Amino acid sequence: MNINSLSNFSATLLPPLFSTAPTRSNVTEKNAIEGRNLNFSIKTRQAKVIPILRDCSLRIPCGQFWMLLGPNGCGKSTLLKVLAGLLTPTSGTVYVQRPKSFVFQNPDHQVVLPTVEADVAFGLGKFNLTPDKVRSRVSRALAAVGMSDYMQRSVQTLSGGQKQRVAIAGALAEACKVLLLDELTTFLDENDQVGVIKAVRNSLDGSEEVSALWVTHRLEELAYADGAIYMEDGKVVMHGDAATVMNFIEAKQSAYIKQINS
Ligand SMILES: Nc1ncnc2c1ncn2[C@@H]1O[C@H](COP(=O)(O)OP(=O)(O)O)[C@@H](O)[C@H]1O
Ligand SMILES: [Mg+2]
Repeated sequence: MNINSLSNFSATLLPPLFSTAPTRSNVTEKNAIEGRNLNFSIKTRQAKVIPILRDCSLRIPCGQFWMLLGPNGCGKSTLLKVLAGLLTPTSGTVYVQRPKSFVFQNPDHQVVLPTVEADVAFGLGKFNLTPDKVRSRVSRALAAVGMSDYMQRSVQTLSGGQKQRVAIAGALAEACKVLLLDELTTFLDENDQVGVIKAVRNSLDGSEEVSALWVTHRLEELAYADGAIYMEDGKVVMHGDAATVMNFIEAKQSAYIKQINS
């Protein structure tokens, strides 16, 4: 079932929610990402205030791969942009380890240079590294995403998923600690989808330093995650380990199916 069917479905039949408020004993230094009571509103031309994020709290431990799920329009991209610093919250606090990198949904918006090697090396210009050091960072990053054999290839000849993996390698080469990834698999075929998600998983497994938050509306991708956050209507309604969130959404789906069949 598509997770979007759940957007208009009442949550009253569901198991109780986890508390999403960060506790004092589990504060910032152990977390790669932490958001507290985040609100984000927009103002229309008629000066009407429309809330997009409503009191969202979340925390993602260092070194983990988390997913942010929810129906279309529930606020996932907005929350990710707030965490990336691309949008300023109306209220609330944000902590995200640095350096951090936001990877866009459309791979053609991300990759900028003609060869894979040049593209991954591009962001390293600011670090004043020796050519040897640049080469070694680029080859390590490409190995982490399974793209070592493509170093001299023209970016134009890659599939969408391969371009996404190159974009992720660019972030890894810059030693990014946090990857913020927005619906990377939307435009990809099934093979490419699995390739990208495994590349992220592999990048994290090879380093305790890197954490990732992956936005998706595909429930099956949860199988690769350590933890997950489920949103509806601008609110975080569930926050926990991947299996618990999967059970929560499946219970919701079963209750929904029962309701429409009754
Ligand atoms: N700049 C904006 N102006 C008006 N509405 C917006 C703007 N940004 C987001 N929204 C609205 O906020 C809601 C959440 O959007 P978004 O974060 O993109 O959701 P998701 O990524 O979960 O699909 C949607 O209803 C969207 O139309
Ligand atoms: Mg979105």
